[in-house]
Amino acid sequence: MQSAQSSNRSEDSIPRIAAERVARPIIGNSGSLRQALKQVEIVAPTDATVLVLGETGTGKELIARAIHNASKRSHRPFIKINCAAIPASLLESELFGHERGAFTGAVAQRIGRFELADGGTLFLDEVGEIPLELQPKLLRVLQESEFERIGGTRTLRVDVRVIAATNRDLLGMVGTQRFRDDLYYRLHVFPIAIPPLRERPEDIETLVAYFVDQFALRMNRHIDVIPDETLDALRRHPWPGNVRELENVIQRAVILSTSGRLTLPPILVEPAPQSPPKEPDSLKDNERAFIARVLEQSNWVIGGPRGAAVRLGLKRTTLHSLMKRLSLSRPRDGAGTEFDAPRTYYRPGRMHDENWAAG
Ligand SMILES: Nc1ncnc2c1ncn2[C@@H]1O[C@H](COP(=O)(O)OP(=O)(O)OP(=O)(O)O)[C@@H](O)[C@H]1O
Ligand SMILES: [Mg+2]
Repeated sequence: MQSAQSSNRSEDSIPRIAAERVARPIIGNSGSLRQALKQVEIVAPTDATVLVLGETGTGKELIARAIHNASKRSHRPFIKINCAAIPASLLESELFGHERGAFTGAVAQRIGRFELADGGTLFLDEVGEIPLELQPKLLRVLQESEFERIGGTRTLRVDVRVIAATNRDLLGMVGTQRFRDDLYYRLHVFPIAIPPLRERPEDIETLVAYFVDQFALRMNRHIDVIPDETLDALRRHPWPGNVRELENVIQRAVILSTSGRLTLPPILVEPAPQSPPKEPDSLKDNERAFIARVLEQSNWVIGGPRGAAVRLGLKRTTLHSLMKRLSLSRPRDGAGTEFDAPRTYYRPGRMHDENWAAG
């Protein structure tokens, strides 16, 4: 295998974290990625539901597969469903199946993904897109492990571990009643947040080396040098499409590199934009805004049957410590709260290829 080398780096130094466990290794050495991978290791052997959070292209699916591969279900199926890619009217049948004649066009019985995943893992990608009316049925299968096919009378029991992923602000959606709070708390048992690439520039060098090796091998190119200024330009880029965008850029760069030196598409050689895009709201900000709103609605009464703790499904003491952690306290009279309605966590950003249109 060819290796891409800059003067101070050799292929041996590329960390291939968890490579022995996953089909596609998760590359990167930053503290924040290591922390996420540590959580993968902790949660994988349990059967707990996991919620993977992160912007587009950060590696949510990669993480979901890593959890499955490191679990005792690894020899059983990993079934994926992208809730955003299936029309709402078909999603119920996709998830739970239907009996013959259940609705017009149901000419044969269909097995849903929950049944297909029996004994294994179901990856519910873009879980924020599940329509409200389907959410109780999903909650039931998560809680009771049982459901009926559409048009069926028999209750089916399955043994499925669910990993969900989203780039949406689910808590904000709970606040605006587009996502059920009980389902949110059921999915939020063990959240793993993958930080955007722009917050971990330390990972750029190893990712670049890895992708250069992959594409050079596939395209039969020899790339021996990744110039320092090239790496600097890559570290400065804001990467709205995260690792997927970097992967595409490196593929393009490998095609352009005929001299043995990695050559970037022209747009990346230009200086970084003067005002980088606004940071997305953090999960913590959204959590804080949501709790503040419930406190506001409860008139800042914490305990008692109408208090904020009951509304949030939390113990009074838990809410107290959450408020302390989030520095939340009752505003002075007339001051109002400082919180806006939660904004979305996902920042769509510029998309990749249109930026690289050959210059
Ligand atoms: N740490 C990483 N190491 C190696 N490859 C990575 C890493 N993170 C992401 N990738 C690659 O980037 C691409 C996008 O990853 P993935 O599909 O898991 O992202 P995602 O968060 O699910 O994106 P989306 O929200 O758009 O579905 C894939 O080709 C994946 O292999
Ligand atoms: Mg994905």
